[in-house]
Amino acid sequence: MQTHSISFSFSEYPSRKDLPEEDRILLERAIEARGNAYAPYSKFNVGAALRLSNGEVTIGSNQENASFPSGLCAERVAVFQAGARFPKVVMETLAISAIGKHSENGQPAAPCGNCRQSIHEYEYKQNRPLRIILQNGDGPVYIVNSMADLLPMGFDNSHL
Ligand code: THU
Repeated sequence: MQTHSISFSFSEYPSRKDLPEEDRILLERAIEARGNAYAPYSKFNVGAALRLSNGEVTIGSNQENASFPSGLCAERVAVFQAGARFPKVVMETLAISAIGKHSENGQPAAPCGNCRQSIHEYEYKQNRPLRIILQNGDGPVYIVNSMADLLPMGFDNSHL
């Protein structure tokens, strides 16, 4: 029997103003996008901004529905938009900003499992890591180097 362990490292910045400028600007775009969240049911507002290698930024916010599963998370709105508009361009960095009644507890805005899987698909497709910037309210900012770090042993086309 062998025991394996998987670990990953990420950076933590005390606040937005401590970020490198390019990352701070992207996160501000996510916060701005959060303003258009349609979340009357959860009252948990999320914004996302995705920077591509050609300099374009696609944005998204969560869009809910009275039929709950019909809604979509902010991250997938932004990432699918990039897939639809710029299919050959590398997705470099995704900033995510969330705000809800527990935002003050210091936890990062964690992407849900469905978003992790969806984003992992594009990382696999482009064979380049997609950095992720996470902030919950005005709390600390976490930067993860790759979606694969948040989805260990992820499922992708290499398994099919
Ligand atoms: N949500 C996101 O937009 N992104 C996440 O990573 C987590 C959850 C949305 C979905 C739903 O509109 C609300 O937040 C509560 O789950």
